[in-house]
Order: sequence, then C-alpha cells, then structure tokens
Amino acid sequence: MTGPYVAAIDQGTTSSRCIVFDSRGAVVAVDRREHRQILPQPGWVEHDAAEIWAKVQAVVAGALAAAGLRADELSALGITNQRETTVLWDRASGKPVHNAVVWQDTRTSALCRELGGAEGQDRFRRTTGLPLASYFSGPKAAWLLDRVPGLRRRAENGEIAFGTVDSWLIWNLTGGTDGGVHVTDVTNASRTLLMDLETLQWDPAILEAMRIPEAVLPEIRSSAEVYGRAVGRLAGVPVASALGDQQAAVFGQTCFGVGEAKNTYGTGSFLLLNTGSRPVPSKSGLLTTVGYRLGGGAAPVYCLEGSIAVTGSLVQWLRDRLGLIRSADEIEALAASVPDNGGAYIVPAFSGLYAPYWRPDARGVITGLTAYVTRAHLARAVLEATSWQTREVVDAMVQDSGVPITALKVDGGMTVNGLLMQHQADVLGVPVIRPVVSETTCLGAAYAAGLATGVWQDLDELRAHWRQDVAWRPRMATEAREREFRQWRKAVERTFGWCE
Ligand code: G3P
Repeated sequence: MTGPYVAAIDQGTTSSRCIVFDSRGAVVAVDRREHRQILPQPGWVEHDAAEIWAKVQAVVAGALAAAGLRADELSALGITNQRETTVLWDRASGKPVHNAVVWQDTRTSALCRELGGAEGQDRFRRTTGLPLASYFSGPKAAWLLDRVPGLRRRAENGEIAFGTVDSWLIWNLTGGTDGGVHVTDVTNASRTLLMDLETLQWDPAILEAMRIPEAVLPEIRSSAEVYGRAVGRLAGVPVASALGDQQAAVFGQTCFGVGEAKNTYGTGSFLLLNTGSRPVPSKSGLLTTVGYRLGGGAAPVYCLEGSIAVTGSLVQWLRDRLGLIRSADEIEALAASVPDNGGAYIVPAFSGLYAPYWRPDARGVITGLTAYVTRAHLARAVLEATSWQTREVVDAMVQDSGVPITALKVDGGMTVNGLLMQHQADVLGVPVIRPVVSETTCLGAAYAAGLATGVWQDLDELRAHWRQDVAWRPRMATEAREREFRQWRKAVERTFGWCE
C-alpha cells in the first residue's frame, strides 16, 4: 500500500461502511455496520438518523484502526449515500425531529397524486427529470412538515434543516451544532424533485407547490470540492466529495464517456448511462439525473437512470421474513440445486414498481405456482426477478438512447452470485463484466474527494486503475429467452391495481 490515502463513507440503505483507499485506488481497509430497518406499517420504511450517525462514526474508527492509520494521514474524506432518504433536524439541538423517511417508503403516494392534479405524474418532469413518485425526497419533506406538530412554523422560522443523508453527515462531520456546514451536492439534490436540472438550483415554483420553506434547504454544491474540515476523530481532514451512491458507482466504474453504463446490485438495482453535458429527457420511464459535477466551475454530466426498488432486499426478505434461507450466501447453492424456476415467477413490487412502469398501485406477486414448486425453485425465482427487472430497464435505455448496449459493467453485493450474473448475461444477450474493485460506490466517492484535493490529477489517471475481474457471456438460446421474458411480463401485469 502506498499513500496518500483517501477514505470514503458509504451510508447505504441497510448498512454504513468506511473504506480506506491507497493512491492506486486499491482497498486498504474496510469496516461495515448495519442499522435498524423500522417498518411501522405496510409500505412505510424509516431509519433512525442518530443511529446512522453513530454507526458512521464507528465504521470510520474501525477502518482507520484496521488500516493502522491516524486521521492526519488521510488526504481527504468522501461521502456517498443512499439517495432520497429524508432527514429533518433541529439546527439548535442537532436532533432529528422524526425518523428519516427512507426512499422505499410509499406513504406519500396519495400526496403525489394530489400534487400531480390534472397533469399527473409528469407535472415536474420537464424541470426535474423525475416523475412525481413517493420515491423522491420533496414529498417526504412536505409530509413531515404537515404531520409533525408545530414543525412547519419552526421550519419557517429557520429552526429546522432538511437534508438527504449526505447533508446530515456533512453537517455532523464538520461540527454539527457548533458550526456544521449545511450543503448537499448536485447529484443528491437532483433526487429531491425540487431542483431544476438546468440551473442546478432549487426551483421556487416547485417549492411553493409543495409548500417547502426555503429556510430549511441546504446550499447546492458540486460533487467534488472541499465543503469544510472535519472535527472530532477526523479533525482537520477535508470533507471533499459527496455523490448519491449510484452516481458514485458511475464514477468508481470510470464511466466518464458518453454511452458508458453500469448497473449496481444493492438493496435495489440502479442502471445509469452517461449521456454527457446535456440532460436527455426519457420517453420510456427512465429518470434524468445529474451524474456528477467536478467543482463549481465545471459543467455537470448527466445520466439516464433505470431504478429498480427491490432486488437484493428480496433475498433479505426470503431470509428474514420467510426464513427459507439462513444467510444470503445460501441462496446461490439452493437455486443451483434445480435446473430452472419450475414455472414460478416473483415480482417484488413491495414499493409499487419503479422503472420503467412507475406504478404506485402495484404490489408483489408470485405466479405460476403448482404443487411441483419447491423452496429451491422460489430461490431461483428470487434471483431471476433481479435479472428480468434489469432486462426491462436495459430495453428502456436502448429505446431512449437509440444506442444498443454491447456489454454491462456491474458492481455491488449481488455480483458475487455467479448464478445470477450468468442469468443476467443470458437474459440480456450481452456480456456482464465485473471489475476487480467491486466496491465502486466508495471508490467513486474517494476518487472525487482525491480529485478535489490533488491526490489524483485527472480522469485518465483514474481510468487507468480500472481492471476487469470476471466476464459472464450469454449462453441461453434466443427463443428460450424471449419465451421466458413473455412469462415474466405476464407476471408483472398481475401486480397492477392491488392498492389505491
Ligand atoms: O435511490 C436509492 C439508492 O440510492 C439506494 O441504494 O445501495 O442503499 O440500495 P442502496
């Protein structure tokens, strides 16, 4: 390992991790801790933001200890985070005023329908690149301002701060109640439904429509610049990047060129295609989003995104809620013990369906059940749900961009599952490629922080670090693939209209 060193915090949906990287982008040390998933009623998902901050501090300490480094040996710290999850906190006490409302949470579906009015889901799409859906932060903040007693008045008085998880962490890292900076980056801001994609500023008309007081909002900054210096254990270390986790993965996979794409398999899966310096509107159910912006003077880079709410979390559900497996790693052997899915398909529309459908009324189904189906077939159907959902967003991507995808770069926890990756290559009909460093989310945040502080000079230097590990090549016959895809589509249609 060779210095200088850069650390990155990845605050994700199920866990927080901190990774220390060396100057060649190699992993020096990792620490990771899970936090509680609070599920107060069907469709609601909350996190305790104070618990998250405690876990983040613990993993930073753990990673530094494992690396054998002192904080003053770090050149920079980068932040990447689960996107859209919404925190409101009291500026004076530093305490969250409510549990964070997590991106998967559907409580704002009715509010979104109301806000859409006659124009429906597309009311703010031209400005924000997003459909009006419960996924995004703005409506979550509006819901909290309406429901927490007295909150709106306090917010209007400037006593309350709003932020996605990046803002919450940066504010705490840089001093919290004692002078913490209240900022967010363009990629996270582009997931709020409140930012104008062209001006990269909060949109006053949307703020008014959602009744969000300007006084709660963080300042929107670029993804790679020094926002402030850390206090406490990391005292003095420049906090020098913030990117939503999916955008960080684009950066870590070095998808810097127009037409380069990656798919990250985490709690959900998110496929992003770099479309360059202009936002490209989608006609096929994808989102237009900011990919990254390297410093306040630089042009932003935009992406088209296919967001899938439930992929890895379906494996977790099989383990924690159904008890069909004891650990997530067991699923591969169980699924491989049968040659196919036995006719069963699972469509995990737990939060409605995201891309390319955007159906809040959808709920999950298992179809094709006969007495023949075993838990092994269901395990297979769970894995296949990930690859079929990805196939649908790839099709939408090709339709929108007009460019065929010839290979897919992948990363994230589920890419250790060879059976799934083979099925993914089979149903896409193109090779699926995993890099040596599959922790691309942290790597992307570290790269951006290192660029902002002079650890790395330019994108070419970063690109030279990327190395291929495994490539899975398609083996399924076209006819079988298309027959199974039709079955999948039939199963998807069964999910529609299950709830208001
Ligand atoms: O948009 C939600 C996404 O950022 C969550 O990512 O990796 O925590 O599932 P992950």
